[in-house]
Amino acid sequence: MTNATATQTLSVTEAIRTRRSIRKFMQEPMDQQDLRQILELASLAPTANNVQPTRFVVIQNKELQQKLQDVSYNQSQVSNAPAVIVVYSDMEDVLQNAEQSFPASMGEEQIKARAESLRQQFGGQDVAQRGQWALTQANIAFGFVMLAARGLGYDTVPMLGFQPEKVRELLNLPEHVQFAGLLPIGKRAEEGFPHHRHNVDRITTFY
Ligand SMILES: Cc1cc2nc3c(=O)[nH]c(=O)nc-3n(C[C@H](O)[C@H](O)[C@H](O)COP(=O)(O)O)c2cc1C
Repeated sequence: MTNATATQTLSVTEAIRTRRSIRKFMQEPMDQQDLRQILELASLAPTANNVQPTRFVVIQNKELQQKLQDVSYNQSQVSNAPAVIVVYSDMEDVLQNAEQSFPASMGEEQIKARAESLRQQFGGQDVAQRGQWALTQANIAFGFVMLAARGLGYDTVPMLGFQPEKVRELLNLPEHVQFAGLLPIGKRAEEGFPHHRHNVDRITTFY
């Protein structure tokens, strides 16, 4: 299986085909430039109205990773990986800082008007409802992280097996944030499991 170095990137097709959930990683720290590049690529994921509600927490601290593992049903990949990326949505941050959703080139007055309209658009929904809406955007970025990582020769395992309220508490995150998931990341120290997938005709209706 291809295991590219940072300078050797995989095509999108190769990245998709060689991605596997990896639960045992090489014991070496993440290259910090690669890590930033993966996050930057993930930040290019699209969001509805470009509101950008996705947020990341990056943990590269074994003590904190162990605590995270404790609230993730003791899944060992959480502390085995050199880093864990937590992907979540924070729609309340978006609304509180709505002006930041628009580029400065738009001009102050237009930004103010657009920010107000954004607040009005979501004002009728409760926090959980709009949080759920924002989560659909974070889920897209979650996929982008996995493929951006693989494209640069890294591996991940997406995880939803954790106690969200305990993870919020551990990472000092507000109650309203919603998690796309945890992503232990690093270089694979073992191959993933062979994976079975439905064929295209089983999951597609063509008209
Ligand atoms: C949203 C999501 C949550 C998952 N949660 C876990 C998890 O908590 N622990 C785990 O070991 N694997 C988890 N997985 C990995 C799946 O088991 C894995 O993706 C699936 O078996 C297919 O294998 P592959 O990723 O190698 O193609 C999760 C995958 C997804 C997409």
